[in-house]
Amino acid sequence: GSGIITIDPGFKNTGSCESAITYLDGEKGILRYRGYAIEDLAEKSTFLEVIYLLIFGELPTQEQLKKFKADIDDEAIVDQDMKKIIDGFPKYAHPMGVLSSLTSALIAFNPSSVEVNSEEAMYKAIVKLLAKFPVLVAWTYHKRTGLPMDYGDANLGYVENIAKMMFSKPNREYKPNPVVIAALEKLLILHADHEQNCSTSTVRIVGSSHAGLYASISAGISALWGPLHGGANQAVLEMLEAIKADGGDTKKYMAKAKDKDDPFRLMGFGHRVYKNFDPRAKIIKVAADEVLGELGVQDPILDIAKGLEKEALEDPYFVDRKLYPNVDFYSGIIYRALGIPVEMFTVMFALGRLPGWIAQWREMRLRNEPIGRPRQVYIGENHRDYKDLESR
Ligand code: SDX
Repeated sequence: GSGIITIDPGFKNTGSCESAITYLDGEKGILRYRGYAIEDLAEKSTFLEVIYLLIFGELPTQEQLKKFKADIDDEAIVDQDMKKIIDGFPKYAHPMGVLSSLTSALIAFNPSSVEVNSEEAMYKAIVKLLAKFPVLVAWTYHKRTGLPMDYGDANLGYVENIAKMMFSKPNREYKPNPVVIAALEKLLILHADHEQNCSTSTVRIVGSSHAGLYASISAGISALWGPLHGGANQAVLEMLEAIKADGGDTKKYMAKAKDKDDPFRLMGFGHRVYKNFDPRAKIIKVAADEVLGELGVQDPILDIAKGLEKEALEDPYFVDRKLYPNVDFYSGIIYRALGIPVEMFTVMFALGRLPGWIAQWREMRLRNEPIGRPRQVYIGENHRDYKDLESR
């Protein structure tokens, strides 16, 4: 109708949907998946259980979990022709660009996953994606390492299998390192969903045109890539490296971050919703100490990060704007200790966020949400007569 249109840049005050999946309270720093506290899930659950919880709404029974894993294992093969697409990329291609392309290419190899007009068809498309995405992540990684692009082992757990595909060496028997697996389970759980963030809103709006699950996820990967969003975990490490190269001069970078004329921001700090500590950052910070300790890794970058955090938490500019470390501030330090290269950090974020994107896409489709099509306030030219080329 001709109702009043109010502009809300970045949708800071706009609710795009009703959802029963994730609850977060920015003031109190609370995050819950389907009512369960993130602290409990990170401590006691596996990533596969959290995947099931987010998508289907309940923690799975042992029977349900067994069947879910079996259904996924049945689909954990990716058509070898997908490698022709990977071969087409230069070695230095950013893994997020490769991954979003491969996810979109999955459509061609799984055409039945596009039109999902039954819960059965939806389940099949979801299980296929949960099975094939980790393979695509591993193959994307091995585009850079030069290691073979092969498959996992269905006898392993979901996360153990991902670690095997990423880290195993072709000439050595793969033995999962429990410290690495526990850290990955926790990190992937902590990244799994976060209500209507930029990439999830992207997945919902692409899905609202019924473009299909894989096209929606591919779009979500592109949105997550940005340094203001998931790309921040890569930007944090690059910033910490720069500070280290600069003799650990955190004061210089704090000054840059506060200088309005300088586009530099303190990466890993601030959040649209959390105006308190990001509960995920708290857990990851503790995990970083544990993992580096157990792996015997001494990383000066961690000390620089802690120094930077301490300074920012005492600096009026950050305190007044309620800028606290967010999920991306410490996660990269753990990924680095696990031997994951910085270009792959945001891919690890996408791997964790996949179930959240799927759950939100499924909820949007089951609720028959309308196609996303916002309005605008026109501020351009009034009507004007056409001018021929000669007279311009
Ligand atoms: C994620 O939405 C989600 O849930 C995202 C996420 C998820 O799980 O999906 O949590 C994951 O993306 C975490 C955020 C990762 N991004 C970064 O770490 C990049 C650095 N952070 C900022 O770019 C920023 O804080 C955002 C993008 C996270 C939030 O931006 P907003 O809400 O649009 O806030 P804003 O840009 O309006 O900033 C408010 C003020 C401004 O100053 P003033 O104009 O009021 O003087 O705070 C300043 C900003 O300049 N500010 C910063 C800053 N973040 C905000 N100043 C220096 N360094 C920063 N990091």
